[in-house]
This record gives sequence, C-alpha cells and structure tokens, in this order.
Amino acid sequence: MTGIIPAPDRLVVASANPHKIAEVERIWLEIGVGGEIIRGLSWEEVEETGETLEENALLKALAVVAATGLSALADDTGLEVSALGGAPGVRSARYAGEHASYQDNTDRLLEEMDGRQDRSARFRTVAALAWPGGRRVVAEGVLEGRITWTPRGTAGFGYDPVFAVGDRTLAEMTAAEKNSISHRARALRALAALLGG
Ligand code: IMP
Repeated sequence: MTGIIPAPDRLVVASANPHKIAEVERIWLEIGVGGEIIRGLSWEEVEETGETLEENALLKALAVVAATGLSALADDTGLEVSALGGAPGVRSARYAGEHASYQDNTDRLLEEMDGRQDRSARFRTVAALAWPGGRRVVAEGVLEGRITWTPRGTAGFGYDPVFAVGDRTLAEMTAAEKNSISHRARALRALAALLGG
C-alpha cells in the first residue's frame, strides 16, 4: 500500500558514512520509491546533539536540506542491549569516547558484556525524510538479535561483527542478506509506505 505524500523527485542521503550511504542507496533503489539520488554534494558535519534517535535523524535531515536545498534522507541508529538497560542506545557512536572507532566501541561492548548470560539486543533505526518546503516524515525499524562472545565476520560496519541473528553475525552476511532483514531496511520500507504518487 502506498501513502498520499508524493516522493521527492531528487534527494540526498544525509550521511557522511560511506557504509551507511551504500546501504541506504541500495535499499531505497530496491524499494523502488523513485526519485533520483544526488551524490557528490558536501556539507558541514552535523553534530548529533539530540536525546533520541528521532531527534538526531531529523537534525541530520534538516541540516542537509538547509545546506543543499534538496530533500534529504537521514537515519539514526542505536544498539539497545537488554543486560545494559538499553545502552549504548542513542550514544552508540560514542560508546567508547568522542572519536571512538568501530573497534573501540565493540571492544567496550564486549567488556561490558563480560560474563553476562542475557545477550539479547536490538538495533533500532529511525529514518527521517525532509523536504525544502518543511514537510517531514519519520519511521522506525527494529532488528532483534544477540551480542556474540567474540567478533565474527568482516562485512558490514559498526557493531555488525558482534550482533548475531540466528547462527550468523551481520558481518558474516552478504549485503543483500543484511538488507533483507536489517533495522535500516525496515525503517526505510516503513517510511516508503507513507509515500505515494
Ligand atoms: P549513527 O546512526 O550513524 O549515529 O550510528 C550509531 C552507531 O551505531 C555507530 O557507531 C554506527 O557504527 C553503529 N551502526 C549504525 N548502523 C549500524 C548497522 O547497521 N550495523 C552495525 N552498527 C551500526
């Protein structure tokens, strides 16, 4: 079913992370919403100062609309671990410090999870699409899984090597496999369902 809000003719993926851009572009094209994705533009880094994933997704989308004059599609993602009371959540990118690498963050996570038997966790993504005229839509996607005892796999990015669904981590899946189940794909499909002709 499609919604009643027309999809933008042209849009920018509001991220500086090449892994995330690649995933969003691929998923958006697969969904077939239409709209030309414009590449090669640049903007000042957007600080993620929001308290929630939704605030941060909107912050990014609106900043990129202001910088480029085009519609912008952003996502903000958090890893919520049950045994850690939902941490790192909205602080996932800075879990091991302000300029933490993926490796630093996964190392800290495995340290915090040392000896814990409840490994259940979920990725939550909020996707936000904003237009120059002020219109905006947001949607959420969740992927349930568990934190592994050691990192496995080399595909993907971020916490993928320590997040397993079934027998495999997201880093042991192909891009197509990850995109068929991921939090990001679910959020983008939910958002696309709000758009129509
Ligand atoms: P952000 O949405 O770019 O702010 O990402 C928050 C944190 O979650 C960063 O550390 C990312 O590396 C990580 N992250 C975002 N999306 C994914 C994903 O699909 N898999 C694994 N880690 C992710």
